[in-house]
Amino acid sequence: MKPSDAREFFRKTFGADPDAIGSAPGRVNLIGEHTDYNGGQVLPIAIDRRTYVAIRARPEASASKIVSSLESTVAEFDVENIAASGNWWDYITGVCSALTAEGVRLPQFEAVVQSDVPTGSGLSSSAALELSAAITLAQIADEPIDLKKMALLAWRVETQFVGVACGVMDQFASALCRDGHALHLWCDTLETEHVAMSEAVLIFDTASPRSLRASEFNKRRAECEEALLLLRASNPALANLAEADPEMIRRAHLPATLEKRALHVAQENRRVEAVVQQLKRSHTLRGELLYESHESLRDKYECSTPELDWFVEQARKKRGITGARLTGAGWGGCAIAVGAREALDALAHEITPAYEQQFHHKPRSWLTSASRGASIEATTK
Ligand code: GLA
Repeated sequence: MKPSDAREFFRKTFGADPDAIGSAPGRVNLIGEHTDYNGGQVLPIAIDRRTYVAIRARPEASASKIVSSLESTVAEFDVENIAASGNWWDYITGVCSALTAEGVRLPQFEAVVQSDVPTGSGLSSSAALELSAAITLAQIADEPIDLKKMALLAWRVETQFVGVACGVMDQFASALCRDGHALHLWCDTLETEHVAMSEAVLIFDTASPRSLRASEFNKRRAECEEALLLLRASNPALANLAEADPEMIRRAHLPATLEKRALHVAQENRRVEAVVQQLKRSHTLRGELLYESHESLRDKYECSTPELDWFVEQARKKRGITGARLTGAGWGGCAIAVGAREALDALAHEITPAYEQQFHHKPRSWLTSASRGASIEATTK
């Protein structure tokens, strides 16, 4: 998909040219799972699939309108009077409301949305929609675009307006990633660095139900908060759970479940650092750490599924694959494998029929590499 496709779609829908076109990508996380809301580090890349938003200001109109190529319902609302509706356009109206709260004066507008970011797979299609809308709306309102601010604004939309309790990783990845680089993000200070990463990544969507995801995710967050409170009883200076030393956790004799959760978070945080060091040295990922991460998510964080475990086992057996793990929240969704491009391609082809036979879901897979974050693609100003 290209900016010209969004322009064409806009012309067909509204019979005119847009004032601005912006886009933002989905993401996969290479390592650092369930660390973001624990003040830890993450290492996502943007994928080569993007959401495009094309917008024309209509200051004289009394309402705004958004048409999406993915949805049959058209959004119509007054930009000066926004309320959450439970519909797909809340991601965009939420952005309007957050921009207005920051003092940005938004005109009524017409917009189209076009995307090839897979939805419902855990690849952050919602962050891609929020970010592409945020930068394009800022552009038509003549506001300077600070991508870090935009990432935080989009995160507030997701957590407060739409009401999904996620950490900051997805919006930061969609906003700030760079071509050929992974984004090393410290979620406590929001500092970032771009680490060169040239390897291809296979994304395997298990297409299995993610129904447990929201309730289990919230449960894990609560468990982590409880573990932190208990650890602070003997370590008052502990800033967050990711910073805890694994030895400190073992000495604290936490209830067994909380000890497992805390150990995963603390050790996963250290794995991010080790992978970053390795990437800096060789521009390749250390696969063993990816497998360790998967095992920890399976056994300590208990967010894997038989489908995700199966994929990782298959990947481990193939020559040319250097590492694999579940990615994103877990409880269904996607796994990744890294290694030689041909080996990744062959893996996807070889395992798809066997997967279908065993699990009775049709998986999807994409070969990607580290891509660029949100950007304005075209503007008349
Ligand atoms: C989901 C959330 C992220 C992060 C991951 C787990 O994808 O949206 O913020 O917490 O789960 O690492």
